[in-house]
Amino acid sequence: MSPVLEARNLRVAYGGNLALDIPHLALKPGELVGVVGANGAGKSTLVNALLGWSRGTPSVSGSIRLDGEEIGHLPPHARVARGLTLVPEGGAVFMRLTVEDNLAAAQAPRGSNRRAHDEAEIYALFPRLKERLHHHASMLSGGERQMLAIARALRLGPRALLLDEPSIGLAPRLVADVLRTVRDLVDEKLSVLLVEQNVRAAIEVVDRLVLLERGRILASGPAAAMRDDPRILAAYLGEAAA
Ligand SMILES: Nc1ncnc2c1ncn2[C@@H]1O[C@H](COP(=O)(O)OP(=O)(O)OP(=O)(O)O)[C@@H](O)[C@H]1O
Ligand SMILES: [Mg+2]
Repeated sequence: MSPVLEARNLRVAYGGNLALDIPHLALKPGELVGVVGANGAGKSTLVNALLGWSRGTPSVSGSIRLDGEEIGHLPPHARVARGLTLVPEGGAVFMRLTVEDNLAAAQAPRGSNRRAHDEAEIYALFPRLKERLHHHASMLSGGERQMLAIARALRLGPRALLLDEPSIGLAPRLVADVLRTVRDLVDEKLSVLLVEQNVRAAIEVVDRLVLLERGRILASGPAAAMRDDPRILAAYLGEAAA
C-alpha cells in the first residue's frame, strides 16, 4: 500500500545546527505511527517541517509527498488545503471563541472530496464538547481544549493528521482517554503521526514507533517489537528522570 505521507532526506537546520536529519519516514493509510524522544529530540521540528511551518527561520530541504504528490515546496495553508493537518503543541484553538464557534471556524475546503467529521460525529466522539458548547475555549480544562483542537482538525477532513504531544499537561487518566480516542480514529481509517514524550502511553496505542534522538531516527519498528528494545527502555528511564 503506498504511503499517504512520505518524507525523504528531510533536513532542518537552524543556523549551522542540523536539528533534523530523516532519510525516510512513511505513514501508511489507516496507520498510527508514534514519534517519541526526549526534550529537544526534534519531534516538533519534524511535524512542523512536514506542514511547512516553523517558529524561527530554519533552512528545510527534502521531499514530502502527500498521496504521492510533492508538497514540500508549498506554503502551510496549501498543504492544509490538500489534507495535511497539524494540531500543534498545546493545541490550536481560539481562546476568545466558544466551543461552537471554534468548531464552526474549521471547515473543509469547498469542493474537496475528503470526508470531514460532521457535528454529530464530533459530539459522539467528544460528548464533553457538546456539554461545553457555549463556553469560551479559555474556560476549558487542558483535556477539553486538546479535544477541541483535535475536533477542529477532524472538521477539516484530514488525509493525514499530525498531533504534537496531545497528552502534555494532562492527568494520567486523561492521557489514556485522549490516546484511546486517537486509536479509535485510526481504526476508522484515519492516518495519524503522533508525537509523544510519554513513551509508555504511546506504545499502548501505536502501530509503529519511531525513536528520535538529536534529530535522527535512533530506532523504529512495530510497537510490539519496540516494547523490549533496550533503546526504548532507556527512553522510558529518561522519561522517569525528566
Ligand atoms: N526556532 C528555533 N531556533 C533555533 N533552534 C531551534 C528552534 N526550534 C527548535 N530548535 C532546536 O531544534 C532542536 C529540536 O527541538 P524541538 O522543539 O523539535 O524538540 P522536541 O522533540 O519537540 O522537544 P519537546 O519535547 O521539548 O517539545 C532543539 O535542539 C532546539 O533547540
Ligand atoms: Mg516539541
